[in-house]
Amino acid sequence: MRILGIESSCDETAAAVIEDGRIMLSNSVASSVDLHAAYGGVVPEIAARSHLEAILPTVEEALNTAATAWEDIDGIAVTYGPGLGGSLLIGVLTARTLALLKRKPLQAINHVLAHVYAAFITETPLAGYQLPSAAPKFPLLALIVSGGHTQLALFSNHTDYRVLGRTTDDAVGEAFDKVAKILGLPYPGGPSVSTAAKQGNPRAFRLPTAKLDNPYDFSFSGLKTAVLRAAQEAAGKDYTLPSTELPKLLSDRQKADVAASFQRTAITTLADKLAAATKECSPSSIVVCGGVAANQALRDSILHKLNEDTEVIFTDIKLCTDNAAMIAARGYFQASCGVPAADARSLDISPSLAM
Ligand code: KG4
Ligand code: ZN
Repeated sequence: MRILGIESSCDETAAAVIEDGRIMLSNSVASSVDLHAAYGGVVPEIAARSHLEAILPTVEEALNTAATAWEDIDGIAVTYGPGLGGSLLIGVLTARTLALLKRKPLQAINHVLAHVYAAFITETPLAGYQLPSAAPKFPLLALIVSGGHTQLALFSNHTDYRVLGRTTDDAVGEAFDKVAKILGLPYPGGPSVSTAAKQGNPRAFRLPTAKLDNPYDFSFSGLKTAVLRAAQEAAGKDYTLPSTELPKLLSDRQKADVAASFQRTAITTLADKLAAATKECSPSSIVVCGGVAANQALRDSILHKLNEDTEVIFTDIKLCTDNAAMIAARGYFQASCGVPAADARSLDISPSLAM
C-alpha cells in the first residue's frame, strides 16, 4: 500500500511516498526558512505564499523520486492541524483536490502525533538516512519536542494514547529560538544555540527549572526570562536594557556560556521527565522525535539517564524536523486501523488541534 503524504503546517512544504507505513520511497521538502531568517521567526504570510508556489512541484518531485504513478497511489494523507491557518489551508486544499481528481481516499493527520511515526520508517532506498532496524513496540512512550509542541505521550496501540504531560506555555524549540534572538544568533535557534553551547560552560549560570503540579508537564517561559536576566547581568546592565541591545554588548565567550547554561537546563528537564515516565510506565519502546530531537546533547543526556535495557529510538536527524514521510506513515497506520477516510469535499483545517 503506497500513501502520498502532504505537509504544510509551518514553513516546510513537503511531500513523500511511503509503502506499507515503513518503506520511504521519497521525502521531498522545500523550506522557506531562509526567507524567515531575516525576521528572526516564521512570518505566516510569507510561509503561506511559499507553500502556494512550492506545493505542486514538491508533490510531483515526491512521485517522481518514488517512481510511482498516480495509479499506484492507494491514498493521500494530509496534515490538517495544528499549525498556521494560511499554511495548513494550502496543504489541505491541495490534498482535497488531488483526492477528488485522482479518486483516492484521504486521511486527515494530526501533525504532532505524526512526529512519532517518523520512527516507524525502517527502510529506504534513499541515501543519507540512519533508520531504526525495527519499528517501535507498544506500549510506546513518546517525547515529542518541536518548535510548537513539547509533550510526553503513552501509546497502547496506534489509536489509543494518553498525553501524560505537555507544556503549559512555550514549546522547548520556541525557547531555543527565543534564546538565539536574545544572543543575536541566527534563526532557527536550535542549531545555532547548540553550536554556540559547545564552546561554553554549562554551569556558568544557574538557571531555574519550573515546579509544576503535574510532574510530566513542562514550562519554559520562566527559563527564557531567566536567560534574558543572565544576559543583561553578563553585559553589566540592569533589567531595563532592551534585549535588542544585548548581542553587541556580549562577547562570544559570554554568549557561549549563556547558550550552554540554557541548553543544559532545558535538556535536563526533558531527560529527567522522560526518565521518570519510563520508570512509571515501563514502555517497550521510547521514541524521541520532533525538531529538538536533532539535538545531540539531548540524545546524550537521555541515554545517560535511562536504564540500558530500555529501547530508545531517536528519529533520524533529517526526519526530526517537519516532513511528509511521517505524515504518510501515520496515514498508513490510521487507514489500516480502520480510521474512516476524511470527506475530500469538506475536510477543514484545525489550527489549534490538540493531541
Ligand atoms: O518539528 P519542527 O521542524 O517544527 C515544529 O513542528 O515545530 O521543529 C522546529 C524546532 C525549532 O524550534 C528549532 O529551533 C528546533 O526544532 N531545532 C533544534 C535543533 N534543530 C532544530 N533545537 C535544538 N537543537 C537542535 N539541534
Ligand atoms: Zn513539527
